[in-house]
Amino acid sequence: MAERDVNLELMYSEFDKMYGEGPRPRAYFAPGRVNLIGEHTDYNGGHVFPCALTIGTYGLARKRTDRQIRFYSLNFSRAGMLTSSLDDLTPSAEAGWTNYPKGVVWAFDGRGFKPDTGFDFLIWGNIPSGSGLSSSASLEVLTGTMLRDMYGFDSLTNQDLALIGQYSENNFNGMNCGIMDQFASAMGRKDCAIFLDTNTLEYKYADIRLPDARIVITNSKVKHSLVNSAYNDRRRECEQALADLQKVCDIRSLGDLTEEEFEAHKDAITDEVCRRRAKHAVYENRRTIRAVEALQNQDLEEFGRLLNASHVSLRDDYEVSCPEIDILVDLAWAHPGVLGSRITGGGFGGCTVSIVRNDEVDSFVREIGAAYEKKVGHEAEFYVVDIGDGAHVLADV
Ligand code: GLA
Repeated sequence: MAERDVNLELMYSEFDKMYGEGPRPRAYFAPGRVNLIGEHTDYNGGHVFPCALTIGTYGLARKRTDRQIRFYSLNFSRAGMLTSSLDDLTPSAEAGWTNYPKGVVWAFDGRGFKPDTGFDFLIWGNIPSGSGLSSSASLEVLTGTMLRDMYGFDSLTNQDLALIGQYSENNFNGMNCGIMDQFASAMGRKDCAIFLDTNTLEYKYADIRLPDARIVITNSKVKHSLVNSAYNDRRRECEQALADLQKVCDIRSLGDLTEEEFEAHKDAITDEVCRRRAKHAVYENRRTIRAVEALQNQDLEEFGRLLNASHVSLRDDYEVSCPEIDILVDLAWAHPGVLGSRITGGGFGGCTVSIVRNDEVDSFVREIGAAYEKKVGHEAEFYVVDIGDGAHVLADV
């Protein structure tokens, strides 16, 4: 990937500058994620297929003796040091990015995992901002990893850290996200994607090293406003569709339906928009199951076709794409080296994910880069994906 590499030594020296010298802080990492297929299914009881990236958020932390918690981000150095307290765990506009780690402390506290002292926390991340590659989930999982390690909350599993992260994002930060991003960040495994059933949280790792192709992320470098409110609207529309369907069939979530069952009962959904949202959720879930099968059968062509169909559905039925992303996907579809391409993540900007034949990766980057810039007026960014491990404590360096 073309991302900047972490410089942990620099982080340690910035830590000392910011917080003063003392015992060496502990170091942590939690990755971002890219989702291969299964978009907007995770709050509909469907399947997802994400993987952890090797980019993410790094953190250094040290306990204090009082109850203050202090935060500093090398990415937002202009915001300076932001201070709070274990006795004041409420979200606020002034707290800015620290609402994410504060929310996780609050969620720990609510479950009886109460840190007995405050801490100093310094972070740096290399997930491009606004890219939709889950920088906030990685910060939440990073904070959970740090709290568990420093305060000895050893009974918590990585899956618990994912759930706590999601809980804090829903209830402290007001974004009604599903479990996918935090799960991928906490549970990722090198060279594997995670096939997760969000209804049961059962999961399987699938080796995603492709013999003849690479996974390429293209960052459109646009982020449209109202992302969170549009996301929450989609969620509500799906809930409405589910409530309508439950009057005529015995289901717990949209993920319980096959395409045929959906077609047989869809007229129970009274609102046309809600019907299209539900259609996406049902079909996307089935596509995800088929895509994992295709991968197991080494049928990359079919895997690619399913990715393409996912994009069409996200664009037309779920309406979470945008012109810039559609341009990237159209360009990718027209490229001879591309097996499949679609928008990835929450939508309204951010990134696409494409499966590109090994020997065509260079021409993909060159040609799509040039054509996109010509059409949109600014550059796209390309990352040839390396799939890494989930969140962990870093060995002292
Ligand atoms: C965002 C959310 C996830 C998921 C995706 C769409 O990334 O945080 O929970 O819903 O959008 O698949």
